[in-house]
Amino acid sequence: MLSQKTIDVIKATVPVLEVHGTQITTVFYKNLFNDYPELLNIFNHANQQQGRQQTALANAVLAAAMYIDKLETIIPVVKQIAQKHRSLGVKPEHYPIVGEHLLRAIKEVLGDAATEEIIGAWTDAYGVIAQVFIDIEKELCEEAASQAGGWSDFKKFKVIDTVKESDVITSFYLAPADQSLVPAFEPGQYITVRLQIPGETYLLNRQYSLSAVPNKEYFRISVKREAESAKPAGKVSNYLHDHITKGDFVEITPPAGEFTLKRDVATPAVFISGGVGITPFMSMVGSIAENEPSRQVNFIHASRSGSLQAFNQELTALKERLTNYSLSFVYENPLDQDKQDNHFKKQGFIDADFLKENAIAQDADYYVCGPVPFLKAILKGLKELGVQDSHIHYEFFGPSINLEV
Ligand code: HEM
Repeated sequence: MLSQKTIDVIKATVPVLEVHGTQITTVFYKNLFNDYPELLNIFNHANQQQGRQQTALANAVLAAAMYIDKLETIIPVVKQIAQKHRSLGVKPEHYPIVGEHLLRAIKEVLGDAATEEIIGAWTDAYGVIAQVFIDIEKELCEEAASQAGGWSDFKKFKVIDTVKESDVITSFYLAPADQSLVPAFEPGQYITVRLQIPGETYLLNRQYSLSAVPNKEYFRISVKREAESAKPAGKVSNYLHDHITKGDFVEITPPAGEFTLKRDVATPAVFISGGVGITPFMSMVGSIAENEPSRQVNFIHASRSGSLQAFNQELTALKERLTNYSLSFVYENPLDQDKQDNHFKKQGFIDADFLKENAIAQDADYYVCGPVPFLKAILKGLKELGVQDSHIHYEFFGPSINLEV
């Protein structure tokens, strides 16, 4: 338990952190990777270079400071981060290393303002916060390992098939190299793929949503090739496209993530995706077709054109299985043939009027996934139409920018 005095000091440092938060975490990462370069086998170098992870950690530290006397309030957010940590193979022994470097960075940036009292309070507080993460991550590891076919860290999988889904998206079917069962997962979850790419000093990890319905034989991920200009962000994805084929092996961690299909509700499910943000929804909608075929599903997908859009046939075939299903495609720059598609509904972007006409359903849950500008536009549209926050579930690809609590 932290003393009231420590809690007061921690809360009083929030405004200081607000000013210096990003700077502190930038110094933190520099020192951390200098002293423990092997941690670069875990961290995403692309996120580091783009400063995204710095912001995420800065915000997390700030949120923890604000909620230090009622950490239970931020447990849902901690869980989401803990899922990511577990999926990347973060271990309890990493926490003291991170704590030491965080405190060193606070001292370095704040200089004389970082009194012994402040550093002491933060040392204690970090210990408490770290323990919350360690405990949740331990539970998640145990849960993953206890599943039929489960395991907890990285495991070797064989690529048993690859399927081109569009000009830019290819699916990889992965089965355990030891021929064990594939564990169950919640539709919407992701796995981490770890690769040793020739010429790279460190291992590279990326998360990919599982795009097939849970089954005992394989996982499917569907990966978008990134433009060369998007490097290093697309390094792993492009390596998968260019070098990984049937018969090759990759290492993966068990499914993780909190962005999942709500279970045991009969209410309509509305899926709204942009680009490769469609992948988690393929697992969700397939799972509804398998388990609750009479549930209402409105599936709306936006992409630049038909040739860049994945899963047209798979989604169209679901009409045979879902009895209350509407499918809508929105293309920014449709070709003539795209306009002939029965499900083509609009040229341009999804806006509130389009949502009103094609998405809104009584008591529905709305699942939204895509790039940040897309998400912002859709969330704004749904709110304009009066959809309650509790019915909107969203995820974008990349680390969380805001730690919302
Ligand atoms: C990601 C917070 C400890 C490694 C994150 C994210 C947050 C965060 C907010 C972004 C989550 C997202 O993308 O959705 C924290 C806090 C910690 C802590 C508050 C301490 C209490 C650690 C430790 C390690 C670690 C000990 C291991 C050395 C990572 C990695 C990522 C991550 C590898 C993924 C992002 C990337 O690769 O750039 N953490 N973290 N974290 N964290 Fe932590």
